[in-house]
Amino acid sequence: MPADSPVETDIITLTRFILQQQQIVGGKATGDFTILLNTLQFAFKAIAYNIRRSTLINLVGLSGTANSTGDDQKKLDVIGDEIFINAMKASGKVKILVSEEQEDLIVFDGDGKYAVVCDPIDGSSNLDAGVSVGTIFGVYKLAEGSHGSIKDVLRPGKELVAAGYTMYGASANLVITTGNGLNGFTLDNALGEFILTHPDLVLPKKRSIYSVNEGNSIYWPSGTIKFFESIKFPKAEGAKPYSARYIGSMVADVHRTILYGGLFAYPADKKSKKGKLRLLYEGFPMAMVIEQAGGKAINDKGERILDLVPTEIHERSGIWLGSTDEVAQAAEFLKTNEAF
Ligand code: AHG
Ligand code: MN
Ligand code: MN
Repeated sequence: MPADSPVETDIITLTRFILQQQQIVGGKATGDFTILLNTLQFAFKAIAYNIRRSTLINLVGLSGTANSTGDDQKKLDVIGDEIFINAMKASGKVKILVSEEQEDLIVFDGDGKYAVVCDPIDGSSNLDAGVSVGTIFGVYKLAEGSHGSIKDVLRPGKELVAAGYTMYGASANLVITTGNGLNGFTLDNALGEFILTHPDLVLPKKRSIYSVNEGNSIYWPSGTIKFFESIKFPKAEGAKPYSARYIGSMVADVHRTILYGGLFAYPADKKSKKGKLRLLYEGFPMAMVIEQAGGKAINDKGERILDLVPTEIHERSGIWLGSTDEVAQAAEFLKTNEAF
């Protein structure tokens, strides 16, 4: 942009960014992945649009149904899910889709080469209060010779070829990685385009912020309790306690963690022995995003989230992610947790 002009005339849209990435891959690229990413961005725009007008067209409240893991579904959970399924089907590039809102995986007709995992609306308990929610997604390439089966998604998170989320907040923010760093885009509603606003996102190495549902602390094992005590009541001379920030939408809490640093956790506890968050479509994409920005993501045993292999599509896991310093500190305390 010329120094004296308030108008950006050389905007990098997500579409332009994706096409540039395809050119880098060169002759090997079939264009399928580019079409898939373009379809994903349409789904995000459609969901963002419906969330924005939800209060006006009575899309608030429960739909009267529950999903496969027993959560009550909001009307927007159902609509977000349908938008996502229809977009992925129409792309012609997706063979398998796993959604939080669908008990079984969906197998599409055709010869799509990708498997997509998604949480269409994450943080839906916040919807009716107008608080930020989001869509989380991950993309696997089908194994060589596979015609699409559950084996294509019961794979370690480190095999994802792309992952990210869109946060529907004051603006719609899309954060995406294809394994070459992390980039953030903001939806310009008038243009209808995601614009590159946060290139090469890097997580601060350290920040005194923690984000956890402390109402569950009665169920936490002793090492988890002691870790949070250690950052709230620091013993070192002159040390300040950490600040608490908890939105209750993983997407929004992770987004803040990427921009500001600190730690986000949803630990396993005596009530939810495997944790609450789902490994395949919440844990893996967020772990990939965080690692691509230089952070870390582990479970309650201190194992790297991206090395885990799910045994079923809705498997849960304890999750600790964020700045390397804070995750390393937590890992030391997690070693002292008793079994439950
Ligand atoms: P979802 O709305 O997809 O079911 O996910 C909600 C998740 C996540 O967004 C958030 O971090 C967590 O649940 C909040 O749970 P609590 O209300 O138990 O804190
Ligand atoms: Mn969720
Ligand atoms: Mn959800």
